[in-house]
Amino acid sequence: MQQNSAFGETIIELNEIDSTNNYAMRLINEGMAEHGLTIRADFQTAGKGQHGNVWLAEESKNLLCSVILDTKEFELERQFILNCMTCVCITEMLMQQYVIPNVSIKWPNDIYAGNKKIAGILIENNIRGTQWTNAVVGIGLNINQEEFSHLNTATSMKNELGKDVKIKQVLKHLLKKMGTQLTVFKTRPEHLLETYNSYLLNINREIQYMKKYELKTGILKRVNDQGLIEIEETPSGKHIRKKSRGYKHKEIELMVG
Ligand code: BTN
Repeated sequence: MQQNSAFGETIIELNEIDSTNNYAMRLINEGMAEHGLTIRADFQTAGKGQHGNVWLAEESKNLLCSVILDTKEFELERQFILNCMTCVCITEMLMQQYVIPNVSIKWPNDIYAGNKKIAGILIENNIRGTQWTNAVVGIGLNINQEEFSHLNTATSMKNELGKDVKIKQVLKHLLKKMGTQLTVFKTRPEHLLETYNSYLLNINREIQYMKKYELKTGILKRVNDQGLIEIEETPSGKHIRKKSRGYKHKEIELMVG
């Protein structure tokens, strides 16, 4: 995959598309993609969320974009670190450029403002044999939408700041961050994991989580480089702490709020 322009400089703007991730994948399959090429749409008719869910977003009010990355030089094991990098870029952009308070990362890849979700990430990877050839980093960031069907669990930049925000400006800031953090991804991936953990919602705090329909309590210790969350269980009523263990996403569900 070639790179003819600077990272994130070329943006394909679409009024409507099924999904920016699907569009990016089609470009890759047709040999029309380059590293850093970004697709942004005002509206998606079949926006995809994590785990086969749909991603619904009001027309022209949110950032719906996909960034194409050439990942041939990276080991397959780095896939979770790319997730960390994307989370860190969105989090830092919201904190530094827009000064949104209480921004954090909810494991594994949701961005929160206070106790409400403000952004979601869907990374789709192409793997040929053992080579990680490319990745499509899909980002859905709530910007000027004020009402959400899932009522109290989502928010937007406008709801947090009390004013409209320019969508294209947000994308510019985000792509600049991604360009910079990609260097860290290449040279010091462990640093990105460390930064990801430093922004993790409820790190070192007692949390509640559901495991096989059972509500449990424990201390959230960290997320490791494979993306497993390490929780030290604190059985209720007993003052004993068990050794921490790592859980995969969907093996447990974290309770927020
Ligand atoms: C999540 O479920 O939290 C992930 C949501 C990811 C949504 C974005 S919007 C742009 C890109 N295109 C898609 O179809 N999905 C991602």
